[in-house]
Amino acid sequence: MSKNWENWDAEMTADFQADFLSWYQQEKRNLPWRYDQDPYRIWISEIMLQQTRVDTVIDYFYRFMEEFPTIQELADAPEDKLLKVWEGLGYYSRARNLQTAAKQIIAEFDGVFPTTVEAIHSLKGIGPYTAGAISSIAFKIPEPAIDGNVMRVVSRLFCIEADIAKASSRKAFDEAMRKIISQNQPGEFNQALMDLGSSICTPTSPQCESCPIRNYCQAYQEKRQTDFPVKSKKQRPKDVYYIAGIIENQQQEIFLQRRPESGLLANMWLFPLEEVSQIEFQAFQKRYDPAAWDLFSSSLVAEDNPPFFSEQAVVWQKKVLGEVKHVFSHLRWHILVFYGRNTGPLTLAGQWVQPKDFSDYVFPKPQQKMLEVFENNLADDKE
Ligand code: ADE
Repeated sequence: MSKNWENWDAEMTADFQADFLSWYQQEKRNLPWRYDQDPYRIWISEIMLQQTRVDTVIDYFYRFMEEFPTIQELADAPEDKLLKVWEGLGYYSRARNLQTAAKQIIAEFDGVFPTTVEAIHSLKGIGPYTAGAISSIAFKIPEPAIDGNVMRVVSRLFCIEADIAKASSRKAFDEAMRKIISQNQPGEFNQALMDLGSSICTPTSPQCESCPIRNYCQAYQEKRQTDFPVKSKKQRPKDVYYIAGIIENQQQEIFLQRRPESGLLANMWLFPLEEVSQIEFQAFQKRYDPAAWDLFSSSLVAEDNPPFFSEQAVVWQKKVLGEVKHVFSHLRWHILVFYGRNTGPLTLAGQWVQPKDFSDYVFPKPQQKMLEVFENNLADDKE
C-alpha cells in the first residue's frame, strides 16, 4: 500500500498544521469540556461521545459533573444513581467501566488521574482512541486519537485504501497521524480533526469548498473524496422478537422486572418480556391489530387469553397497544406491547410499582419507548 504521507516534507507538514490549527482557533465549537484541561472532565466527555452525538452529550455531561464532580465521588456512587444519570445514553457498560476505572485511580494512582499514555490506557474502558484523546488534550502528549471521524478525514487526506472496518488497518492511520500531528498543540490538532469530520468532511457529501485543508487533500485533488474511507459492510444486527406485558393490578400498580446482574441492560428495569418467533410475532401483529379489530373480533370471542405469558393470572386486552423497535449494536429488538389486568399471584419475578415512582427506577431506552406507547394509549382513552 502506498504511504502518501511519506511524501510530505517538514515544510509542508508545518504549513498544513498552521493552516489547520488557525482554522480550529476560529471555528472550534464551544463545548463544556473544552473550557479547561481537566483530565477527569475530558475523560468523561470522551466516553460519552463514543456512540453518542455531541448535541445529546452536552446535557448529560453537565448533569454528570453536577452529580459526580470528582473522581472520588464517581468511585463512591451507588450503581443505581450512576445508571440513573446515564439513563437514555445507552451502552451502559461505559458507565460501569467509568466507575471501575475511578476506583482503579483511587487504588493505584492515589486518586490522581495518571499522566502517561500507558497508565491512562491501563484504566478500565480506555482503549487507544480514548487514551490518545485524553493524553493529547489534557497533557499535550502528541498521541493520535483515531476514531471513525478521524479515519474518514485522514483516509481522504492521503487516499488510504485500508478497510476501516478491520482492526489491522489501524496501523496505517496511526503511522500517518504520527507524521502529521502537531507536537506543540496535539490536543487542538486532534480536536480540529474531530470538528472537521463532523462539520465539513462528512461521510456522504463533504463540503470540500469550505475545507481549510483541501489544498493538502489528495482525494480532493483527484476528485475521489467519496471513494474514502474504504469500509466493508458490517454484519446486520440480529432480529429478536418480544411480547411486552404491561400488567396493572387493582392498586393501579404496574409490574416491573429487573434484568440479571450481567449482560445486556444489566440491573435495569423493564416490563416483562417474552421472546417469540418471527412467525408468532407477525401473527400477533395481524391478529391483534386494533385497526382490524372488527374483522377479527368474531374469531376472538371463543378464545381465551392470547397465547403468550400463558402461565400468568392476567386478563389481556386483545389488541396491540403499539410496537417498539430498538437497535443495539448487535441486536434489533422488535416488541409488541400488550396491556392486561392482574387477577391473582404472578409466577414472574419482579415488583409492583406505582407509575409516580417510575422515576426511581433505571429505565433503558426500549423501556422508555414502551412507556411512551402506554402513556399515549392512556391519553387516547381520556379523549
Ligand atoms: N468527538 C469525540 N471527542 C470529541 C471532542 N473532544 N470534541 C468534539 N467532538 C468529539
